[in-house]
Amino acid sequence: MKAIVLAAGSGTRMKSGLPKCIHKILGRTLLNIALDTLQEAGIRDIIVVTGCGEELLRASVSANVQFAHQAEQKGTGHAVSVAKEFLNENEDILVLCGDTPLVTAETLHKLAETHTKEGNAITVVSTRTDNPFGYGRIIRPVTDGQFLRVVEHRDLEEGQELVNEINTAVYMFNGKALLDALPLIEPHNAAGEYYLPDSLEIIQSSGLKAGVLLAPDFSEFVGVNNRVQLSQAAEVLKKRINERHMMNGVTITDPNSAWISHDVSIGADTVIYPGVILENTRVGENCVIGPNTRIVGSDISDFTEIDSSVILDSFVGEHTAVGPFAYLRPHSRVGARCKIGDFVEVKNSAIGDNTKASHLTYIGDSDVGSGINFGCGSVTVNYDGKKKFRTVIEDNAFIGCNANLIAPVIVKEGAYIAAGSTITEDVPKKALSIARARQVNKEDWVKRKRG
Ligand code: UD1
Ligand code: CA
Repeated sequence: MKAIVLAAGSGTRMKSGLPKCIHKILGRTLLNIALDTLQEAGIRDIIVVTGCGEELLRASVSANVQFAHQAEQKGTGHAVSVAKEFLNENEDILVLCGDTPLVTAETLHKLAETHTKEGNAITVVSTRTDNPFGYGRIIRPVTDGQFLRVVEHRDLEEGQELVNEINTAVYMFNGKALLDALPLIEPHNAAGEYYLPDSLEIIQSSGLKAGVLLAPDFSEFVGVNNRVQLSQAAEVLKKRINERHMMNGVTITDPNSAWISHDVSIGADTVIYPGVILENTRVGENCVIGPNTRIVGSDISDFTEIDSSVILDSFVGEHTAVGPFAYLRPHSRVGARCKIGDFVEVKNSAIGDNTKASHLTYIGDSDVGSGINFGCGSVTVNYDGKKKFRTVIEDNAFIGCNANLIAPVIVKEGAYIAAGSTITEDVPKKALSIARARQVNKEDWVKRKRG
């Protein structure tokens, strides 16, 4: 089976500089969501019709597809006709829209099944909604000789606005019936466009059969035409993803406020608190994530606790606590049983097991061993204004409060750095290094000054 995905429209109602189908929900473009569903349904032969913002849109496609070019957007019927050369009379063709990305693989299977079982030349998927405003309505024949048809919102006749069965714009066609119908579609409607749903009447008037698959759940078919609908579609997808995790044993205390993208895995007995955003990330079992945490591109091991923090492209080991208010920047690797506490920033650094930086510390471009303690306010000084350098801190070292380690520098195993030191030279194993001015107490200085 072949599929055509229509994505050439500009999406005027989005009021955007970008083509409509490149807008994202939960980290994926509308078009890629639809394409992923086709893959899931086992459909590999896919043609995407592009036009507005074509280069951007084509570059954003993650699947292996063929493209057809619609130079001018003259309507959905015209959009399918520009893909004509890819179509074959002897095969069934699924048509869907890039702006209706929530349709499920299960529905596509049902559509194929109904289409074949009923011997239809065209099968259209419909659904019911309390608010059909803006959608094309399904007008079913009431007497013999009438055809099943779709009337667009702008073309509704009196009384038809009450029809709450809508066209979802997901169709299955017999290849020959579609190819024969396309040249017969005419732009006789308020918009002056070539409407694909008009093929329903054309196909039936040639004596072939049209059918409807009435889908039970409107939420699968939210069409994204404006930003309000974009947010409605995001709600639907969010709910689907969160329910999948909850069914797999994850507690999500407020599913409304957890934004978890499709490419996230979470182990059982992990608790997700409100305000969590997870993208392209693996979270282990028995973790506590949130509140108010964003984790992207990372790997979070079992039994970790991440509170009010941001973690990007990093690894966190088992039983480690991060936050509140910590920032792990890309290429950081924190070992097991560590503490990365409040206002600690780690960047492009490896940290061994059992190391603690409890507060107000910057660890950048550093190789940090195990069992190390960073005192409050300690800083690896990795940048001289021109170049970045690395700091090496070996196992069991102790970095006193407010110490500056001026890279490149090595603090050897077990060494102690006195609080307030500015370290510019390597520190030997198990040594104490003090690099600050001695304290001088001037007795009675105040009294003398004031006379
Ligand atoms: C369409 C249907 C409507 C249905 C609704 C469901 C038509 C005429 N109407 O309306 O019956 O209820 O979807 O969401 O089909 N596109 C092109 N080239 C064009 C025009 C559109 O590729 O020349 C693409 C758009 O990028 C979009 C899709 O086709 O992805 C649908 O077009 P849109 O203008 O959004 O149609 P609707 O008014 O939503
Ligand atoms: Ca639409």
